[in-house]
Amino acid sequence: MDKIVIEGGKSLKGSVKVSGAKNAALPILAACLLTGGRHSLRSIPHLRDIQTIKSIMSKLGVTFRDGKEGLEVSSDNLTGCEAPYDLVKTMRASVLLLGPLLARYGKARISLPGGCAIGARPINLHLKALVAMGVDMYLDRGYVNARVDRLKGADIFFDIPTVTGTENIMMAAVTASGQTVLNNAAKEPEIQDLARMLRGMGADIQGDGSDTITISGVRDLRPARHTIIPDRIEAGTLMIAGAMTGGEVKVEGCMPSHLEALTEKLVSTGARIEVGHDSVVVKGPDIIKSVDIKTMPFPGFPTDLQAQFMAFMCIAKGRSMIRESVFENRFIHVSELKRMGADIEINGNQALVKGQNRLLPAPVMATDLRASASLVLAGLVAEGGRTEVQRIYHLDRGYEGLENKFKHLGAAIWREKG
Ligand code: UD1
Repeated sequence: MDKIVIEGGKSLKGSVKVSGAKNAALPILAACLLTGGRHSLRSIPHLRDIQTIKSIMSKLGVTFRDGKEGLEVSSDNLTGCEAPYDLVKTMRASVLLLGPLLARYGKARISLPGGCAIGARPINLHLKALVAMGVDMYLDRGYVNARVDRLKGADIFFDIPTVTGTENIMMAAVTASGQTVLNNAAKEPEIQDLARMLRGMGADIQGDGSDTITISGVRDLRPARHTIIPDRIEAGTLMIAGAMTGGEVKVEGCMPSHLEALTEKLVSTGARIEVGHDSVVVKGPDIIKSVDIKTMPFPGFPTDLQAQFMAFMCIAKGRSMIRESVFENRFIHVSELKRMGADIEINGNQALVKGQNRLLPAPVMATDLRASASLVLAGLVAEGGRTEVQRIYHLDRGYEGLENKFKHLGAAIWREKG
């Protein structure tokens, strides 16, 4: 298994470009199932999760080709409607295929994702909404078997604003009969990007980006051309790295309006930030002030940056309270950070970080995607030896060549094949 090795202590300096957003690319690839013809998608990142959804879609008969206009996706002749367990278990977002398959074929068989490292993460809200749209469903040996003649529009209320749930039901609703209203919908930028793709395909969607999304079903869709938005979580990770290493990093090709919650917190730590049209420059603070954070749905502080910000707070002056309100068990990086000398106390969904002025190099183990990024960040500041981050396949699920981006910014970091 590959590992990343870091000799910490270098201030990062220079410019780095952000890749396309994984969490936008996944539902947008799934949306290609909604109609035949050839879609063209630009800025699809090269990631393991993208490979996984492409593998499942290939099994369904979808073809992919790298063309002049980006990734060409054709789903003219679908040959199946099943997402098998061996692939779904590696990526929960496979459940995004359920809505489009039901919209196009009226049937789908998808393995239930099961638990994951950051909690139980059920999909009950996706399923409840589909039942309200007329879907018959039964569970058989870990698979959801779903069938419907034609989806019908419905008034849906999500108990919790679920990101992939909102996306799944948006895709189910675009060709349903009548109108669907999603109340308490998630407002993440990735949902707006999916809505833009669907509108490009001829869908009638209004209100995305707010908590009420209205979709009026249309009969026909057409293939679309679309460019995926930049990855705000990758951008945020690079911004934290710039601040944490006391460097000066320009993060290019990002959308600063997607990063406001983080930007505000970084300013409170003493970092200086210059916001451009599609770039952000972060200059690290002389003395890092501790700051409290609470993760929230967008536009609040993203849960997907909590672990990385915690690594930063480990070297701040003072105490920082980190509250995780989106997922139930998202502190598994804490025990690894402690192996690097961090002083953190967990109490339920709160972690009290007692900042020290340094972290120490150590061999550590990545446990999930964002936890891996936090360990890499910790390694960048851990002086006096090598930090080895093992099980790096988690990082490869969601970051495109992160070690190369850090190397380009002056870090002593490399990958060792194992
Ligand atoms: C998406 C993102 C993930 C991010 C998360 C929160 C993708 C592919 N993944 O995950 O990176 O961390 O949003 O921003 O976009 N819930 C239920 N029942 C459901 C669905 C969700 O109880 O049917 C709960 C979850 O357990 C969680 C909360 O709702 O506590 C929010 O989860 P959700 O927004 O659905 O996360 P994902 O869409 O899985």
